[in-house]
Amino acid sequence: MIGDLFRFVAAVLTVNASTWTYGVNYGRIADNIPKPESVVTLLKAAKIKNVRIYDADHGVLKAFKNSGIEMIVGLGNEYLKDISVSEDHAISWVKENVQAFLPATQIRGIAVGNEVLGSTDVELWEVLLGAVKNVYNALSGLNLTNVVQVSSPHSEAVFGISYPPSSCVFKEALTPYMKPLLQFFSQINSPFYVNAYPFLAYMSDPEHIDINYALFQSNSGIYDAKTKLHYDNMFYAQIDAAYAALETAGFPKMEVIVSETGWASRGDANEAGATVKNARTYNHNLRKLLAKKKGTPLRPKIVVKAYVFALFNENLKPGPTSERNFGLFKADGSISYDIGFTGLVPSSAVSSLLSLKDLGAEGCFRSYSLLLTISAAILLLNLTW
Ligand SMILES: *[C@@H]1O[C@H](CO)[C@@H](O)[C@H](O)[C@H]1NC(C)=O
Repeated sequence: MIGDLFRFVAAVLTVNASTWTYGVNYGRIADNIPKPESVVTLLKAAKIKNVRIYDADHGVLKAFKNSGIEMIVGLGNEYLKDISVSEDHAISWVKENVQAFLPATQIRGIAVGNEVLGSTDVELWEVLLGAVKNVYNALSGLNLTNVVQVSSPHSEAVFGISYPPSSCVFKEALTPYMKPLLQFFSQINSPFYVNAYPFLAYMSDPEHIDINYALFQSNSGIYDAKTKLHYDNMFYAQIDAAYAALETAGFPKMEVIVSETGWASRGDANEAGATVKNARTYNHNLRKLLAKKKGTPLRPKIVVKAYVFALFNENLKPGPTSERNFGLFKADGSISYDIGFTGLVPSSAVSSLLSLKDLGAEGCFRSYSLLLTISAAILLLNLTW
């Protein structure tokens, strides 16, 4: 009886571990956000176990040691040319930034470049595949391909027409670069990573797009006549558009993972929809949707996984005001709005009375005792079996 119970608990734990759906992007273009150790506390309290960072900062990788949080690190666009022409540099990069931190820091992926093919930098287009291959070969030489997956997130700009979703195709000018890249990813079993922002689509045409469709609220949705599928939210439509483009390109089996999605809580006068209310609605509904662990209308059996952009508001990001206001959390560690997460500090004015350190320590202690309980249970299980 007790054995069965433990087996059931273990099965539940295992299933949960393999079917995460809600991750976050931990961007750090800021000079006022909490230190990485506090970020681990924050993520544990939020029960977020999947994080993507945009570099391979050693301070961050060290802080995430033994946290149980799975990470994707980034190899920035600025390194792609060098990595593409030098196998040795690829090997050193992987050794210094990935292998050195394994297994205590659970690096599970390397995002090689970000939004390269959606950019206008043709020189980068030309070196992307070479860099991807050298990084993969470096992992292979270190026997790490079973542990660390290689990918490269794309923006919506890689697509031509994408309405209705079933008509979506990759831009023709990109085909000579996209096809061989997908060929390689399909060979090594990597998914297709897409940065999908209903916020940006809505902002580009607020007069014709129903904001309720973008925010997962009640609306009449759209009907895709070719597939006979109905979409009541733009997030699913964007994912299925990517699936349609992959299918047309000859990769019907490739999984789509959303490497970024989110909604800004503030913007400039010309950035329609960038309000706290809308950001809360989008992120609250997205969180509820992902928690259901379901697929999209076109791929009902492939559970949708997404990394929300972003963990914090980032005060040093250039560009329009929205760029600095995507955070689920403000720079002081308090929540930007309530979607069920707890901040490092309360969001009200009383926060100044409580020290960040004290709260951090308390949160840390709580997580550790939970971790100990689970470890004990697992130990017991191993003994029982
Ligand atoms: C390669 O790594 C796997 C685990 O991913 C391990 O089981 C295997 O023994 C390793 N092989 C060598 C040659 O080290």
